[in-house]
Amino acid sequence: MEAVQAKDNILTIEGLNVFYGKKQALFDVSLSVEKGEILGIAGESGCGKSTLAKTIVGMNKNYSGKMELQTLDPQMIFQDPYASLNPAKRIGWQLKEPLRLDRRRKWSVAEQEERIRAVLQQVELPETLLDRFPSQLSGGQRQRVAIGIALMRSPSLVIADEPVSALDVTIQAQVLKLLQHLHDSLGLSLLFISHDLRVIWQLCDRVIVMKEGKVLEEGTVGEVYRHPRHEYTKTLLSAAGII
Ligand SMILES: Nc1ncnc2c1ncn2[C@@H]1O[C@H](COP(=O)(O)OP(=O)(O)OP(=O)(O)O)[C@@H](O)[C@H]1O
Ligand SMILES: [Mg+2]
Repeated sequence: MEAVQAKDNILTIEGLNVFYGKKQALFDVSLSVEKGEILGIAGESGCGKSTLAKTIVGMNKNYSGKMELQTLDPQMIFQDPYASLNPAKRIGWQLKEPLRLDRRRKWSVAEQEERIRAVLQQVELPETLLDRFPSQLSGGQRQRVAIGIALMRSPSLVIADEPVSALDVTIQAQVLKLLQHLHDSLGLSLLFISHDLRVIWQLCDRVIVMKEGKVLEEGTVGEVYRHPRHEYTKTLLSAAGII
């Protein structure tokens, strides 16, 4: 039974501890992301959400525990597209970068251009943006570019760390709709981090609530929101105006 289950997970983490020097940021974290699902990670500032994301994509090396990825190329989307994009390079250049750095295959110029056109369609941006610099785009457009960069090598797992938190509410809704659409049309598995429980409600299948570096509870969004088991979860839900 267990072996079959593990095969359906794109990511399995067991007993993960993460350290910054002597300070421990994650304690015995276990979770899994099933293929094709959207797993939400909730919890207040400082509870370790970004630490978890960065450890999964290899940006934190100081950890113990088991981490099993069924994909070689997980991609990450960050909160602030302005910080994650290179201000000095045109959008077209930045979209090509993941292809230039692709260690699995070489991309001809024609293939690169074709891939860029396909990805621009997926993130619903016009080709006229390719010659612009990040400062010449709106916040929503910049986040679409960042999502596009993440999609260039057709990842099967995307980790999005507060991807809409820096955006206006109307733009937030558009970008969430885009992520939902990309999930549906590409079969993407998504690990979606947000302190905003309303956003998690809109997008996610399951949710994990974290507190002080530990997993407090997990379940389907329906279960956890209707029957929170911990006072802390209730506090978060009521602070978000949900209960
Ligand atoms: N590079 C670092 N060096 C030392 N401590 C760090 C580092 N990055 C994070 N921490 C600490 O680890 C803990 C978890 O931080 P983390 O950024 O993962 O929280 P978060 O849940 O993403 O918070 P937020 O919602 O504000 O983004 C915090 O106590 C933080 O101060
Ligand atoms: Mg964070």
